[in-house]
Amino acid sequence: MSLISAALKRINPSQTIAISNKARELKATGRDIIALSAGEPDFETPDNIKEAAIKAIRDGQTRYTAVDGIPELKAAIVAKFKRENGLTYKPSQVTVGTGGKQVLFNALVATLDAGDEVIIPAPYWVSYPDIVQFAGGTPVPVETRLEDNFKLQPAALEAAITPKTKWLIFNSPSNPTGAAYSRAELKALTDVLVKYPHVWILTDDMYEHLVYDDFEFVTPAQVEPALYDRTLTMNGVSKAYCMTGWRIGYAAGPEVLIKAMGTLQSQSTSNPSSIAQWAAVEALNGPQDFIAANNKVFKERRDLVVSMLNQTKGLTCPKPEGAFYVYPSCAGLIGKTTPSGTVIENDEIFASELLEAEGVAVVHGSAFGLGPAFRISYATATKDLEEACLRIQRFCGSLR
Ligand SMILES: Cc1ncc(COP(=O)(O)O)c(C=O)c1O
Repeated sequence: MSLISAALKRINPSQTIAISNKARELKATGRDIIALSAGEPDFETPDNIKEAAIKAIRDGQTRYTAVDGIPELKAAIVAKFKRENGLTYKPSQVTVGTGGKQVLFNALVATLDAGDEVIIPAPYWVSYPDIVQFAGGTPVPVETRLEDNFKLQPAALEAAITPKTKWLIFNSPSNPTGAAYSRAELKALTDVLVKYPHVWILTDDMYEHLVYDDFEFVTPAQVEPALYDRTLTMNGVSKAYCMTGWRIGYAAGPEVLIKAMGTLQSQSTSNPSSIAQWAAVEALNGPQDFIAANNKVFKERRDLVVSMLNQTKGLTCPKPEGAFYVYPSCAGLIGKTTPSGTVIENDEIFASELLEAEGVAVVHGSAFGLGPAFRISYATATKDLEEACLRIQRFCGSLR
């Protein structure tokens, strides 16, 4: 009898975490490594949020809370959805978990049966297909194209829908491409979804606030109110509020689903940290102006990286609307050879040779379900980014 369950055998450890760990290990051996692999802002959590957490400890907010969130945080989330997205929810339609990742996990595990299909536009955030598989469902990746700036097209969505489709996972701005859908682009997708009432929409709005050039963020239930009753709108404080370590994510949707997710959470982790919940109340209700200041820096870095990559032999890099990622294609380098004689057969070899030769850590596109490409996170100091891009230029230029 195997110790490890069949469900666990269906999933893999997160490749993005594995590459960040490898970069950290190499750095510890004294090598000069620039890691462009991490999915988190390099800015500190704002002081008012830290203070709220310290106050929560002093006030004795240190005990179990309601499993799916304290009333104060649910009220802040209800107000956020109204203020920023024009969406009306009752507190009973809101759930809070230990990071956005747990909220997604709860939603998929609470709803998927064997054979249920989940449409996932590729490239995708690495955890989506693995969580679907853990839950016993079948991921249905739908490849997007560089020419479409990696955005799902309505005809491709419609072609992927079958009677077994349970969810579409939608992510804008996207990890790993940074692509964000305009209102018109999203409406074209929701027009398809309206025709298929058995399909639910799980929208991952984690990067909502990280958009540049006056881009207007929109979310499916806002663009198409007819989908409100079958949309789970997921979000969190990790990225916009620089709170990745605090582990608070949330979602709003139909009560029956929210209740099921709470039941699952009640038998796994119970409530998210009481202290982090109070910090999240302050994040959502407190001053928001630091977000624009951070975005100014992110936009400058995006422009720098896109420009330098597009001047690099063999690379093509679309300019994304948001998040802190770019996703250059390295199709022009496949089949070429490094000075030490290694043939770049695919993007995984490209990434490992780049790390070996120049000490720059990026994540290969095949980890996200669409290559040959790689993901760069530009949430790192601007001078390091510039140096990393110079090294990438040198590496690509050295291939024959
Ligand atoms: C698209 C996307 N969704 C969800 C998450 C999970 O966020 P959290 O850290 O709150 O679990 C991430 C984190 O990398 C992400 O990139």
